[in-house]
Amino acid sequence: MRVRLIAVAVLAPLAVSGASMCSPRVVSGIDGLRGRVSPTRRPSSGATLAAPYEQESEVVEGTDMSEVVRNLNAISLERHRAHTVTADAPPSTDPFSLVADDIAPLSGSVCDQLSADQQTLMESAQYFFGAGNARQGKRVRPVIVLLMGQATAQPHHARAESAAADADGEGSKWYGKQLSLAAITEMIHTASLVHDDVLDAADTRRGAEAVHKLYSNKAAVLSGDYLLARASIALARLEHAEVTQQMARSLESLVQGEIMQLRSTAEERLSLEYYLTKSYCKTASLMALSCKSAALLSEHPLDSDAAVAAEKFGYHFGLAFQVIDDLLDFTESSDTLGKPGLQDMALGLSTAPVLYGIADEPDLRELVERKFSKKGDVPAAYELVMKSNGLQKTKELATFHAQAAVDACCALPEGEARDGLVRLCHLVLSHSS
Ligand code: FPP
Ligand code: MG
Repeated sequence: MRVRLIAVAVLAPLAVSGASMCSPRVVSGIDGLRGRVSPTRRPSSGATLAAPYEQESEVVEGTDMSEVVRNLNAISLERHRAHTVTADAPPSTDPFSLVADDIAPLSGSVCDQLSADQQTLMESAQYFFGAGNARQGKRVRPVIVLLMGQATAQPHHARAESAAADADGEGSKWYGKQLSLAAITEMIHTASLVHDDVLDAADTRRGAEAVHKLYSNKAAVLSGDYLLARASIALARLEHAEVTQQMARSLESLVQGEIMQLRSTAEERLSLEYYLTKSYCKTASLMALSCKSAALLSEHPLDSDAAVAAEKFGYHFGLAFQVIDDLLDFTESSDTLGKPGLQDMALGLSTAPVLYGIADEPDLRELVERKFSKKGDVPAAYELVMKSNGLQKTKELATFHAQAAVDACCALPEGEARDGLVRLCHLVLSHSS
């Protein structure tokens, strides 16, 4: 069976030359991904065993990612706007300081969950969680999860100053689960990076050797698998079926995003819609669904205003984050990035700067179509993008999503945690200038 990824209707305020932005159409077909139990996989003996497999309701269908994105875009939280990223000063709250005491023990706690008998497996899985080294990254995902947990807290979740004040333990139990969700999110993210570096054959990550360079491809694949296995156990321990489903959906999205990146037609590579759906899958989905899970752990129902706002925040913040990352691939040196620059085009990928650049420099189109595969294509494309308005339009796209993320925050109760999330939207944009 075919997974049909239907292109989203207008995803962003800016159109890209040569790529139809308005009418839904099929943009990709990937064989064999939709999860169905085929007759050959049914148990062969006994009616009682075979029966459950025959019920369609038991079959887990693959998710149509374009539909997910379309549905998220259809929700507007603009009416809540109380802050403008382009005109208002950022809130003074430092989001990282706000949760610094909670983030500090995260690496140690994850390492404790990653103790394995096999030395290489344990070391490689713990590589990005080692104490006191720069490889830990900024922990953006745990920070937004914890801030979202706090921003969606209900009165009975108030974190008590002392154990005595939290006599029934409700506050600490609730926050303990938020802490665990933050760690799970980082474990999933780390697993995806370890696997991604194998797929991209990237030598460096966070300014140091990638796991597969230090150990081996096989060790890196198993190390990512092990991280996912341990994250799954921690997720099950939350004993919240809806949270488990949301986080499982984020895993599916990550894989779909990677497949969209690996297998694309020339037409898809020219499409901004395809690029944004892929960016949702690769980056924004984990942020959206972990933020939504934080709201669920704060006991908001699945379709509540708080859960929707949390998911919308993660969605738009994640897209702004990815779009800026793609911009930095053009503007920053590999030293600053901690990974090779101009890497996207070297991998045949067309990102926002190139897609927007086509309007001013039509010669880019041919280079995109052939995945920058001929000698000299990457520097030629770089020159053309720099001559075009592509970087400016990319910045505008990121600003659009950062503002939509702020609007989602503004749907949540006022407070320090919300201010911290708003400040993060400013910070994401400031990284591009
Ligand atoms: C980085 O993108 C890649 C991701 C964020 C997702 C990778 C997903 C997979 C490998 C699918 C498997 C998923 C799991 C959960 C194991 P990039 O290559 O554009 O960014 P980079 O420049 O930082 O490498
Ligand atoms: Mg990569």
